[in-house]
Amino acid sequence: MIDPFGRKVSYLRVSVTDRCDLRCVYCMAEEMSFLPKADLLTLEEMERLCTAFVRKGVRRMRLTGGEPLVRRGVMSLVEALGRLVAAGELDELTLTTNGTRLAKHAEGLAAAGIRRINVSLDTLDAETFTRLTRWGKLDQVLAGIAAAKAAGLAIKINAVAMNGINDGEFDRLLEWCGVHGFDLCLIETMPLGNVAGGREPTYLPLSTVRARLERRWTLADSDWRTSGPARYATVAETGRRLGFITPMSHNFCESCNRVRLTCTGTLYLCLGKDDAADLRTPLRASESDAALEAAIDAAIAAKPQGHDFVIDREAAPAVPRHMSVTGG
Ligand code: 5AD
Ligand code: SF4
Repeated sequence: MIDPFGRKVSYLRVSVTDRCDLRCVYCMAEEMSFLPKADLLTLEEMERLCTAFVRKGVRRMRLTGGEPLVRRGVMSLVEALGRLVAAGELDELTLTTNGTRLAKHAEGLAAAGIRRINVSLDTLDAETFTRLTRWGKLDQVLAGIAAAKAAGLAIKINAVAMNGINDGEFDRLLEWCGVHGFDLCLIETMPLGNVAGGREPTYLPLSTVRARLERRWTLADSDWRTSGPARYATVAETGRRLGFITPMSHNFCESCNRVRLTCTGTLYLCLGKDDAADLRTPLRASESDAALEAAIDAAIAAKPQGHDFVIDREAAPAVPRHMSVTGG
């Protein structure tokens, strides 16, 4: 799959549910209306869609949400996709999770062939964690992370940088990741969906965070790249990687290799744009995948060049949907 700008699309992110058991303030409004259950694809339908993408050339897949592990029966999808990895049809299957249910699922994820996961964790302070997630318990997530480590999963911690919330914690997070052997990836808040109070007061550019970290840590730029947009540095003191995702202060669209599938079968072509294609209709229209594959081709042919995020007091979000719809 090659888009009109010559970019090869080989990476599919799959949001298996828009629901989540937390309500992170930068991600969701407190009162969220989630998609009606009747609109959801079944897990079998999601598997069929994912398999069609693999036939079209997708080599890596990430399951996201919302929180993917809150979807009932999700392990059956993980196992089915894991079999594609075992068969050499997919290079890698990964997962992004908030960690609340990892203690239960870590062993199963590893057994299904997942080798690395991203866990969202913005703070190591129990009170801040509860305030930030509106009701989450830090201990539960730490226990989940410990279980994932014990199961042999490689772990990357994702932390959204927020002024006045976790801006004093990056030294501690970096140190903690070093002790446990985790990579850390810092993320700028993106204007996706409305949240209480807006995002402008907490927006913190990562250039500022990096400058502060460099007072204590020796960061050497590295040309290590995953398939994602992060730029990495190596932390000399811990030997671990530190990633920076800077959608606000640096536009990374030129190397975009991905599209995003929602749990209703909508394919979003860009995180920051409304361009989308309905794949549920062709999926359900026939048992053959011909119409589905044609719809995928047509969608890729319409992938936008990129997005321009703006955060200020007046600006509306770039798109009305929250990250939990399209998948982080
Ligand atoms: N801006 C930046 N990051 C966000 N995430 C969720 N919503 C936003 C947003 N508006 C993060 C989560 C998770 C990752 C998938 O995306 O914290 O780490
Ligand atoms: Fe849930 Fe992740 Fe959004 Fe937090 S950031 S509310 S954990 S989907």
